[in-house]
Amino acid sequence: MNASQPVFDLVLRNGSVVDGSGREPFRADVGVRGERIAAVGRLDHAGSIVNVDASGLVVAPGFIDVHTHDDQAVFQWATSEAKLSQGVTSVVVGNCGTSLAPLCLQGDPPPPLDLLGARDEYRFDTFAQYVQALQAAPLPVNVMALVGHGTLRVRNMDDFSRQATPEEIQAMALDVHEAMAAGAAGMSSGLFYPINCGADTNEVVALARVVAGYNGKLAMHIRDEGDDVAGAVQEAFQCARRSKAFLVLSHQKVAGKANHGRSLEIMELYRQEGADVPFAIDAYPYTSGSSMLHPALVATSEKVLLTWSKPHPEVCGRTLGEITTEWGCPQAETICRLQPAGAIYFMLDEADVSRYLAWDRCMVGSDGIPSDPHPHPRLYGAFARILGEYARDRALFSLSEAVRKMTSLPASVYGLGERGLVQEGCFADLVLFDPNRVRDRATYAEPRQKAEGIERVFVNGRQAWPLPHDQNGCSGRFLPGRRVQSASEGT
Ligand code: ZN
Ligand code: CU
Repeated sequence: MNASQPVFDLVLRNGSVVDGSGREPFRADVGVRGERIAAVGRLDHAGSIVNVDASGLVVAPGFIDVHTHDDQAVFQWATSEAKLSQGVTSVVVGNCGTSLAPLCLQGDPPPPLDLLGARDEYRFDTFAQYVQALQAAPLPVNVMALVGHGTLRVRNMDDFSRQATPEEIQAMALDVHEAMAAGAAGMSSGLFYPINCGADTNEVVALARVVAGYNGKLAMHIRDEGDDVAGAVQEAFQCARRSKAFLVLSHQKVAGKANHGRSLEIMELYRQEGADVPFAIDAYPYTSGSSMLHPALVATSEKVLLTWSKPHPEVCGRTLGEITTEWGCPQAETICRLQPAGAIYFMLDEADVSRYLAWDRCMVGSDGIPSDPHPHPRLYGAFARILGEYARDRALFSLSEAVRKMTSLPASVYGLGERGLVQEGCFADLVLFDPNRVRDRATYAEPRQKAEGIERVFVNGRQAWPLPHDQNGCSGRFLPGRRVQSASEGT
């Protein structure tokens, strides 16, 4: 072979490959041509336009963040930096029943839709318009999109606190058809939230049947993560069983001191209920959650930290207890006066968090809220924390297993057959990290600190982190939930 004739556009040389399958690390070079991995092996004699010395580093598939609220954030490089800087190359948006599309708003978005953006950002009357915008925009990361049940209720109902009528369910089902045909990966529901909790099981089933017809996923933020967590998990399985949709149980947790330890009971439910239902779960590696300011969540928490408040922006980063004392009023009144607002809730037990994360069908979802002025540290830290704190420092699972949870597992759940593995023919979504140094640096006090030890990130064969000076770094693309048949493939 003539070494002066470059065979590859990029070769990552002499790294330790953790290929995403769960297999033990092995030493190899990874050659990239165009947007795909062209070879994995000894490539000493093959020329390349760009060579990267990966000795001492791990070469892994780019991470897939299956639980995000980045519907709007993916349009901007600045807000996607939180993902790329920890090795995430693909995100699933539209979780928790909240999606940006299809919805045009005249007034302010009702909570929790306000977590995604302001009124002006709700500008897509169809899901296809949102998909077109994603396809036209330079995207920092690859994007899959769910349509939100809560969004559909706000779109189709005058009073979304109640149950939907048969006509309204019919209208929402048409919207789900439209979204799935346009490339949605499935539907999310958020039965806990005020815009979504009026829906009964039958309503979810009716819409999830449409999703199942397109082989889409049903991602559920369950009705109760506290005292009735078991009933809520059972309801989710019922939705999946009756609709035949693949179930993703979102951000699994048991909230509130009285419920700590109940992950054992929930896992028993997974075994029983999941025997005939295909499903997976996601979780994040923290003992606190974050959402809109909600009395039910305050009630299950030992401490509540404000992340934003529209009428009182000065309270960001302070505790609800402090503010209540300072204002000298009952806590319920403080909550009312702060609305609309968001908070971090300290309500989980470490043993439960670890148990969920270690479960073999647990994916990692950051659940980060990019619009928050004082976000939960999971936004910048979740993936690095799995690698550093949970795999290396605590040895909860091996590095190979940690990578599998963040790559090939979510790729198989979401039908991304050509991603999630370092393998010839796959798309070159790659991350290079130092296994000894990798760690999260984002804290509750300083949440916007980037992870340490993530050296380089490539999206579809192009370096996206650190941002090269000569490129815009936006080589991500919209990933449709199902392969769209081309005309020639018809019949
Ligand atoms: Zn949620
Ligand atoms: Cu969420």
